[in-house]
Amino acid sequence: MPAYSPEPFRIKVVEPIRLPSPEQRKAAIRAAGYNPFALKAEDIFVDLLTDSGTGAMSHYQWAAIMQGDESYAGARSYYRLAEAIDDIMGFRFFVPTHQGRAAENILSAVLVKPGQYVPSNMHFDTTDANIRARGGKPVNLVIDEAFEPQNPHPFKGNMDIAKLKTFIERVGVENIPFGMVTVTNNAGGGQPLSMENIRAIADTYHGYGLPFYIDAARYAENAYFIKLREPGYAQKTVKEIAREMFSYADGMTMSAKKDAIVNIGGLLCLNNEEVFQRVKNELILREGFPTYGGLAGRDLEAMAVGLYEALEEDYLANRLGQTAYLSARLKEYGIQMIEPPGGHAIYIDAGHMLPHIPQAEFPGQALSVEMYLGGAIRGCEIGSVMFAHPDPDTGEMVYPKLELVRLAIPRRTYTQSHLDYVANTIGEISQRGSQLRGYKFTYAPELLRHFTARFGPL
Ligand code: F0G
Repeated sequence: MPAYSPEPFRIKVVEPIRLPSPEQRKAAIRAAGYNPFALKAEDIFVDLLTDSGTGAMSHYQWAAIMQGDESYAGARSYYRLAEAIDDIMGFRFFVPTHQGRAAENILSAVLVKPGQYVPSNMHFDTTDANIRARGGKPVNLVIDEAFEPQNPHPFKGNMDIAKLKTFIERVGVENIPFGMVTVTNNAGGGQPLSMENIRAIADTYHGYGLPFYIDAARYAENAYFIKLREPGYAQKTVKEIAREMFSYADGMTMSAKKDAIVNIGGLLCLNNEEVFQRVKNELILREGFPTYGGLAGRDLEAMAVGLYEALEEDYLANRLGQTAYLSARLKEYGIQMIEPPGGHAIYIDAGHMLPHIPQAEFPGQALSVEMYLGGAIRGCEIGSVMFAHPDPDTGEMVYPKLELVRLAIPRRTYTQSHLDYVANTIGEISQRGSQLRGYKFTYAPELLRHFTARFGPL
């Protein structure tokens, strides 16, 4: 069992949580239509639905919140955030947004024309949807190893540079407004990209005259993986590594709810002045004045502090230690996951755990529901509920390669005993896995159905 470095903080404020009785859990999940998204958060004991906006802020962040300048224009808090962005990321211009998808919306609104392609390693689903909403076509060109769950490749988030070149040649640069990459690759298991790969991506895009934007939601975790795994980076600070990553890009979008450790917030940064003018106009229409962009002054303060805290190495060692520890504990029960464990989450292979449940009966959903029944734990199905769809030509159902359940770890929120509780509960479920049954839809909307679908047990 890899012991991991102790939390580099002590706990000053606590939020009580409660384990409902087995009868209460049964009633709650039935009332939720067997969809954990519809549960009341209060009825959950350990909530691993997402690491987005669910982290604990430091007392420095709370103190900064008290200093928020709520001036409509030109607030002190804006300049404080600008200084942090200039220092860590080094882009010439930026606007705050209310969260990551707002930055994606604005970038897509300003740059994507109908029919154009936007390549990436793998777009997160909100990025994918925002590009599509402007008539664009998101394209995923991650390396093939990303689809082999047991392959221990250290940088499984890498983009396939040969595929990228072929793709650009095939569709033509005039049909690509910009290129992207997601660090770390959330849609592919929270896997990092190497600096070598980021540099090659930048060289490729720039070789064709294309601007390069990074989805930087988990940039600090990616930088720390580079420090741990890539030759030549062990002696550099995480901040130096992050700065090098950003030096290759022309801009970035970011959900600050991840590696800025805030409950709400996002960023859009860029170097191109003409595009920045258009970004500001779109921002004013949708979010707010460019110096607050859909947030309060106090939110900008918390973000400015959090951007630095996420780069602290003792914090990152503890954080990546948590996912590695949970993964090792689950392995003791023979549970398979995407390897290596991701930075922010682990992804259980529910198809492997429940081989008797066919994809059409949602093995990932069955495990998610059982995690709630067994221990009031909430995870997120990333399988057929989320992705299965009828083929537009044949009408036949197309199923995803993997039936996963993601356990995302909120930042600075849970302790090792919580992780042990989660591992023991899921381990116990896996031992009686053959008794679990699948589910069927009783209601399913056409788009993004996992959020609001209702189920019945089979
Ligand atoms: N990009 C990545 C890589 C993300 O993981 C997310 C959100 C976004 C963009 C969108 O940011 O939520 O602030 O609008 N991911 C969350 C998750 C929701 O649970 O993985 P947002």
